[in-house]
Amino acid sequence: MSLHVAIIMDGNGRWAQRRGMPRSAGHVHGAKAVNGIVEAAVRSGIRTLSLYAFSADNWGRPSLEVDALMRLLQRYLTTETRQCIEQSIRINVIGRRDRLRPSLVRAIEQSERLTAGCSRMHLRIAIDYSSQHSLLEAARRAPRNEALSLGDFETLLAQVDHSVPDAGAVDLLIRTGGEQRLSDFLLWDCAYAELYFTDKLWPDFGEAELRTALADYGRRQRRFGKVLAAAETG
Ligand code: FPP
Repeated sequence: MSLHVAIIMDGNGRWAQRRGMPRSAGHVHGAKAVNGIVEAAVRSGIRTLSLYAFSADNWGRPSLEVDALMRLLQRYLTTETRQCIEQSIRINVIGRRDRLRPSLVRAIEQSERLTAGCSRMHLRIAIDYSSQHSLLEAARRAPRNEALSLGDFETLLAQVDHSVPDAGAVDLLIRTGGEQRLSDFLLWDCAYAELYFTDKLWPDFGEAELRTALADYGRRQRRFGKVLAAAETG
């Protein structure tokens, strides 16, 4: 199954609050769920998994929560990279890097470098990511007065996002936590993505839930704007 699955991991805060815990505890449990889903994704044969870990708008959260998330992301990269190498998972962090603390940027660069030769699955983690910002920045970098092909624009977009290697279009976008919106995640890449929403809060989203989402995706008819026979033959 050569799928690109993207996930908006929503519901950590509510998961914690329902248990009388601080929101940051929800993120810690969310990170555990990430471990489980990465392993499940490898077992399911997913080729590319894109996870929305921190949006550009998340900077507006209380500084304690932002700090906890940044530390958690750095810890994830430093502790899980070895595991990723063993399973041949290539890590790539997409989004802006100019507003991240230098130690996190170093951890990102190290994980990307150490896993560059891995090829079983491509794990993309979006940090300080905003599709609108990326699209605007790619448009700014486009040469003036020159016909720009779709492929040229996608190359610019990948450069802005630090997206290496190319991940291609999203096939299935999953959002946990009950909301039904894209929240500025991979807007370009989701042009023809199938959307799957679940009320499960992210820390409760495990292998069984992923398999349910994949089975649902398997029943969708993807036509890419064509009629069925033409879509099948390309
Ligand atoms: C949204 O839930 C979740 C986030 C803003 C952070 C996502 C981060 C993780 C899952 C953990 C770290 C990630 C990795 C890759 C190790 P929310 O806080 O908005 O939940 P709420 O809607 O219930 O308030």
